Amino acid sequence: MLADAESLYATLQVHAQPSGFGAEIVGPDLTRPLSKAVLAEVKAAWARHSVVAFPDQPLTLDQLEAFTQAIGAFGEDPFIKPMPGHPNVLELRREPDERATNFGAGWHSDWSFQKTPPAATLLHSEVVPPVGGDTLFCDCSRAYDALSEAMKQMLSPLRAVHSATRAYGTQGVFAKETEKRTLQIITSSEADKSLTHPLVRTHPVTGRKALFISPVYTVGVEGMTAQESAAILGYLFQHMTQEEFIYRHRWRPKMLLMWDNRCTMHFAEGGYDGHLRVMHRTTVAGDVPA
Ligand code: SIN
Repeated sequence: MLADAESLYATLQVHAQPSGFGAEIVGPDLTRPLSKAVLAEVKAAWARHSVVAFPDQPLTLDQLEAFTQAIGAFGEDPFIKPMPGHPNVLELRREPDERATNFGAGWHSDWSFQKTPPAATLLHSEVVPPVGGDTLFCDCSRAYDALSEAMKQMLSPLRAVHSATRAYGTQGVFAKETEKRTLQIITSSEADKSLTHPLVRTHPVTGRKALFISPVYTVGVEGMTAQESAAILGYLFQHMTQEEFIYRHRWRPKMLLMWDNRCTMHFAEGGYDGHLRVMHRTTVAGDVPA
């Protein structure tokens, strides 16, 4: 990891990943309210690196909620039962004896089927398994930048169709699941609805363009046949998930990770059957993708 230029931050140490995508932030104590200056630097580092990890942050649920709200208002988390007494916190818990696929095991940007998908997701590690359980991130801005000008022009007017149907719909994977799962998922016909967003969106803070599609929630391209959509999306998904655009996050206990759903997608890797993994998750509301 590389330290960001000293002059960029007065209050934080920001250790960027060598690619610049992803960084570790040392310095702030997230168990307490942050000063305006520190919060501004945290937001700046997050905008710059898209996925930021804060090691050694033993947050209670109340402290996780308070830090989330310092970033922005809570987002809406559908289809999953929240923690008792904490309507904005999901506990992603997988017991050692669970055989159901781990939650999040497909490339996605959180809740992109919403009219205003969350800007941020925050995930706090309570119990980290001794093997596996990494989370992979794709830099959708860099993947966009690497496309040819001709491809960028072709994609520019397109709108992608997003839906939760494949995951949470009446015929989705969770509806058909037979294995026991600790996470309480509520499948619904609501999930079968769809809406469109620009296939390429512009980040409201950085102004950078990013591919805003994912294999889990993007089910087509508006105005195209299923075959045409599959050809274009299939190519883009293969392009985006090349090694050069990926950051692999390795968890340590009591680590807080905050990612930007507007310019990344992520994938929760399994590989920890026989071990407990417990995470607490919140989201921050975003705006209409443009
Ligand atoms: C998610 O998709 O939000 C889950 C990520 C993880 O558990 O690593």
